[in-house]
Amino acid sequence: MNRTLTLADDTFWVGVNDHETELFEALWPLPYGVSYNAYLIVDEQVALIDAVKGHFLTEHIQKIAAALPPGKTVDYLIINHMEPDHTGAIRILRKAFPGLTLVGNKKTLDMLAAFYGLDQDCLEVKDGDVLELGRHRLQFHLTPMLHWPETMMTLDTTTGVLFSGDAFGGFGSVEQGLFDDEADLELMEGEMLRYYTNIIARYSQMVQKGIEKVKNLTFRVVAPTHGVVWRKDPGRAVSLYDEWSRQEGEPGVTVAYASMYGNTQRLVESAVRALVERGVPVAVHNLSRSHASYVVADIWRHKGLLLACPTYNTGLFPAMDDLLRLLENKMLKNKQVGILGSFAWSGGAVKAMRQFTDTLHLDLVEPVVEAKGAGTEEDGEKCRELGERLADAVMGDE
Ligand code: FEO
Repeated sequence: MNRTLTLADDTFWVGVNDHETELFEALWPLPYGVSYNAYLIVDEQVALIDAVKGHFLTEHIQKIAAALPPGKTVDYLIINHMEPDHTGAIRILRKAFPGLTLVGNKKTLDMLAAFYGLDQDCLEVKDGDVLELGRHRLQFHLTPMLHWPETMMTLDTTTGVLFSGDAFGGFGSVEQGLFDDEADLELMEGEMLRYYTNIIARYSQMVQKGIEKVKNLTFRVVAPTHGVVWRKDPGRAVSLYDEWSRQEGEPGVTVAYASMYGNTQRLVESAVRALVERGVPVAVHNLSRSHASYVVADIWRHKGLLLACPTYNTGLFPAMDDLLRLLENKMLKNKQVGILGSFAWSGGAVKAMRQFTDTLHLDLVEPVVEAKGAGTEEDGEKCRELGERLADAVMGDE
């Protein structure tokens, strides 16, 4: 059955929920699934705003057909973003709706040719251009790097729906609530943070530029390509992305540690004990068990970061090495960082973690602890002191 969900006058959700893909981008776990949101505006001319992953084409076309009045077809596909989770079905959509005009900016059209060999019946739009559908008036706003260079947003100035592409999106499927006033927001905002940090975070500076642009627009609904549609509190979607892209962080410490035989873990426990006793919110991740998707999200959430790692083959334990390279790629900033490690015969891990904080200009919280073997009682005390200093650094006057 295709029950059509309505966002505004003549405006319908024709997206799909994906519970089959285990790893988004073949990297990031999807325990709550993901939605590919697409929208249909039915006017004198009909516009489809974004599409879905190719695998879900049949369901997508059934939903479009259910929303289309008899005798109507889809005239335009507005491509806010070219990534294949929104365009994978494009060639077959063209066959299903002959005469479909593909609408995008110059970079979109370059990618259309590169990905799908499509260069006919395309309409190039520029920043601020308007497409009239009849009563509905679509205005295009280029927002590069949210999440690719061609990304744009489409504002229906008639209804005030802002089709925002990946921006303001999140993981999590929406069959239990498409709209912010019906969804489990605690869960969905957690999945939104994970989406932001996993997918968008590298481009945080460009997110800030995009948000400046969005703040000058008048809208009453935010409709992204993934996750919840914000009709009750659209400002919240924008303010969450604003907060995350500023990387200011909440009071709290994320602990990311590796330990082979338990020696580094015992040092971590001393530091964590001190944090807990000071009332600091703490998220602890053993990197051999926690997927980086969750670790990075918690690191983004908190002001403080405690890195702990044994030396492995004269350098970092591989899981820590992977995490630090990922954080460098995401251009992490504004963190208060504590470092501790252990070694058997040669150090290396602590030096590498120091290099990481130097490279990203993060604030190092002393003392740095490096224990030989199982460590001494004095090492344990230094870990407690590190925990206390981290608490001071992240809690401020709270
Ligand atoms: Fe949802 Fe960047 O694609």
